[in-house]
Amino acid sequence: MLPQEFIEKIKIVPVVKIDNVTDTIPLMEAMCKGGIPIAEITFRTACAADAIKIAAEAMGDKMLIGAGTVINADQAKLAIANGAKFIVSPGFGKDISDVCNANNIAYVPGCVTPTEIMQAIACGHKIIKFFPASNYGGVSTIKALSAPFGDCVFIPTGGVNVNNINDFLAVKSIIACGGSWMVKDSLVKEGKFDQITALCKEAIEAIGGNV
Ligand code: 3PG
Repeated sequence: MLPQEFIEKIKIVPVVKIDNVTDTIPLMEAMCKGGIPIAEITFRTACAADAIKIAAEAMGDKMLIGAGTVINADQAKLAIANGAKFIVSPGFGKDISDVCNANNIAYVPGCVTPTEIMQAIACGHKIIKFFPASNYGGVSTIKALSAPFGDCVFIPTGGVNVNNINDFLAVKSIIACGGSWMVKDSLVKEGKFDQITALCKEAIEAIGGNV
């Protein structure tokens, strides 16, 4: 299944921060158990690239592993070499786009303005991370952007949670929502993987399932 199809099916993209590589496998397993077999492992920690490699190798086809907070071409190259199947940025990076296109890897750039979306389209990308969603007008801005950019689909991230996710998913052009609420940093650091599973299940139940 292509990354886009898989993301459309699951409808939630957890934004993960791993400080300690030994947390990688228990965290991935906790998410799978909770019904969310996707992880955007962010380049916000020194061990991000190692965590991507460990997750990609250990989880295989059971889980879609991508890299997030990718802000330069070197990170994109490293993430792809380590097994990332999609690359997410907080903004749009032409250098990152070039690396992804050369490797035939899905790139999901962060865009909030028409100009940024036009840059993404010009480089062949139509899955847009709308970030930070709540600061840039949330649902109503995405609806407005969907009119001129009918071929694009959106993954709003930033401020999405279990209480407002259905407002976003009700919009036709929104294929999934991203967020960290079910994989909170503190829960990962404290090894509270059962709680992570429970929060994932709660999120999937809230959206009425993902199959
Ligand atoms: C991200 O980078 O995508 C965000 O930090 C996730 O936003 P959230 O923490 O508000 O879910």
